[in-house]
Amino acid sequence: MKIALIGYGKMGREVEQVALSKGHVITARIDPLSGERTTPHLSPESVSDAEVCIEFSQPQAAVENIEKSARLKKNVVVGTTGWYEHLSRVEATVRQENTALVYAPNFSLGVNLFYRIAAAAAALFSRFEDYDVSGLEMHHRKKLDSPSGTAKKLTQIVLDHFPRKREVVTDCLNRPIRPDEFHLVSVRSGHFPGTHSVVFDSTADTVELTHTARSRAGFAFGALLAAEWVVGRKGVYTFDQVLENLMQA
Ligand SMILES: NC(=O)c1ccc[n+]([C@@H]2O[C@H](COP(=O)([O-])OP(=O)(O)OC[C@H]3O[C@@H](n4cnc5c(N)ncnc54)[C@H](OP(=O)(O)O)[C@@H]3O)[C@@H](O)[C@H]2O)c1
Repeated sequence: MKIALIGYGKMGREVEQVALSKGHVITARIDPLSGERTTPHLSPESVSDAEVCIEFSQPQAAVENIEKSARLKKNVVVGTTGWYEHLSRVEATVRQENTALVYAPNFSLGVNLFYRIAAAAAALFSRFEDYDVSGLEMHHRKKLDSPSGTAKKLTQIVLDHFPRKREVVTDCLNRPIRPDEFHLVSVRSGHFPGTHSVVFDSTADTVELTHTARSRAGFAFGALLAAEWVVGRKGVYTFDQVLENLMQA
């Protein structure tokens, strides 16, 4: 597969490493500042050889990059987060140009399968009054946001399947927690690339489900899986829809 990388920061480089190890070809590294880029601009020339674009840049650049890719008739996989308020406009452009877009806030295959396991577990444990549920996430000390986007999504999934929990509490509690509150705790320390747990607890036992990321390579593997899938397709898809389609094949 011939790939144009849009954004050549930490993730762009990670995608390149994994892509080369899988025998893919990088036709362009498009980045306004990176010294190792091949071109600063997304243009007809810079993407002409590519079958698909993979975009990991910055929130303020993503919308323009997706729309430009669509107008240049290139399908695009987008890992950049923080632009979703413009999703309907972007969707309209992609459909109008008859191209395809796959987007996800987390392209880790393990995390996306973990979401499904957490949903099924929450549905099971919620049927038994003695079980309570809580969440825990741990990230490196440089992480800017808290709780993580992945933790928020995981929490929403658990709440959707555990009807007794209706409110999320992320602060320190100086009172007993109410039965309808879901306590989500964030720890910032050391170098954790990302650890997310859902914990079910009863008088008899504890069941802990934990996803532990080892590196950024997992995001790159998922983005490449999506890129392989999207070549030759049309439409707008989440990574979860890609996985659903792959599992049914
Ligand atoms: N979906 C997922 O699985 C996943 C996983 C990890 C990260 N992310 C997200 O992916 C994004 C990138 O993360 P990262 O860690 O790679 O960040 P990063 O190291 O800061 O890299 C972003 C790169 O994009 C470049 N860029 C800025 N404007 C651009 C434009 N108009 N066109 C092309 N490139 C442009 C930046 O260039 P300069 O800084 O040199 O200007 C930088 O080299 C973030 O939004 C992050 O939250 C998503």
